[in-house]
Amino acid sequence: MTTSPTDQTQQTLVDRFGRVATDLRVSLTDRCNLRCTYCMPPEGLDWMPGDEALTDDEVVRLIGVATGRLGVDEVRFTGGEPLVRRGLVSIIGRTREIAPHAELSITTNALGLAKTAGALAEAGLDRVNVSLDSIRPDTFAQITRRDRLPDVISGLEAAAEAGLGPIKINAVLLRGVNDDQAAELLGWSVERGYELRFIEQMPLDAQHGWSRETMVTADDTLAALSASFDLTPAEEPRGSAPAELFHVDGGPAKVGIIASVTRPFCGDCDRVRLTADGQVRDCLFARSESDLRTPLRAGASDDDLAARWVTAMAGKAAGHGIDDLGFLQPDRPMSAIGG
Ligand code: 5AD
Ligand code: SF4
Repeated sequence: MTTSPTDQTQQTLVDRFGRVATDLRVSLTDRCNLRCTYCMPPEGLDWMPGDEALTDDEVVRLIGVATGRLGVDEVRFTGGEPLVRRGLVSIIGRTREIAPHAELSITTNALGLAKTAGALAEAGLDRVNVSLDSIRPDTFAQITRRDRLPDVISGLEAAAEAGLGPIKINAVLLRGVNDDQAAELLGWSVERGYELRFIEQMPLDAQHGWSRETMVTADDTLAALSASFDLTPAEEPRGSAPAELFHVDGGPAKVGIIASVTRPFCGDCDRVRLTADGQVRDCLFARSESDLRTPLRAGASDDDLAARWVTAMAGKAAGHGIDDLGFLQPDRPMSAIGG
C-alpha cells in the first residue's frame, strides 16, 4: 500500500538545543572540474568509487523522506561540482515532483551551466549560487588552477536568462591572492544584478593549508569594501541566514558577508547534510556521520529511515569549535561534504 503525504508520520529534525533543521544540502558527487587551492590539491583527490555513491533513485528516495516526513522545505544540491553528476536534471525534476513546494537550488562553479541552465529551470530548479572569486582571468586561473573564467561568466548569464534568480555569487578572499579585488568583484556583480556574498575561508581543505593568521576576516572585507562603497546594514532580520546583509550605495543592491569563523552563526543553524555516499552529517565540521545507505540498501522502510535521521540529528554539537584548543578538521574535505 502506498501512503499519501497526509498519512505519513510527521517529525522534525530537532536537536537538544532546540534547533530544527529544515535546509537539506545534498552532495551529489565529490568530483570537480576545478581545483581551487583552498579546496583541493592540484592532482585532485581519490574520488569516491561509483558503487559507494547513492544512485539517482536512492538520492531521490532519501530526499523524499526528508521533505515528506521530516519537515525539510529547502533542498540545495552541491558537490564537489553538482553539474558533473550525470543524473542532475532528472534528480531535480523528480525532487520537484515529490516536493512541489520546496525551494530547490544548486551551488555550482557554473562550468557547463550555459548549456544546462534552461533544462534545470524546466526541471523545477529555483535558484543558483555560483562560486566565483575573481573576475580577472589570471587570478581566476591562479585560484582554480584552470583557465575557465569565460565559461563561468557565460554560465551566469544563461542562469539569469533562464530565470534562475536571484543569482548569488559566493566568493572566498585569500590573502595576497585576491583580497585586493573585493570592491572590483562587488562593482561587477552589482552592475549585473548578482548578489555577492563573501565567505570567510574555513579549515576544510584537503591539504590542511588553512591558517587563522592569514585568513581574510569579515571585518577586513568590510573595511576593503567601505573604501569604495557606502554600506548600510539591510533592515531584514538575519534569521538563520548566515549572511550579514548590507545595502550598497543606498540599495537596492546588496552584499552579504558570511563570518563563519569570526562570528559563528551555529546557534541559528537550520542545516542538515547528506553526502553522496548516503551519510547524514549534522554539521560541516562534524567528526562523525550516520549511515543511511546501509539500511536503505538492506530494504529499510521510509519510517525506519526517518527514525534514523531523527536520531542522527539529535546529537548535533552546539558549535563548530574552530576556536577550541582541541579543534580537529573533519576527515572529509569540503568537496566531499558539500558547501
Ligand atoms: N571555506 C569557505 N568556503 C569554501 N568553499 C569551498 N571551500 C571553502 C572553504 N574552505 C566555498 C566555495 C563554494 C561553496 C561550496 O563553498 O567557494 O562557493
Ligand atoms: Fe570545485 Fe568548489 Fe572545490 Fe573549487 S571549491 S575545487 S569549484 S568543489
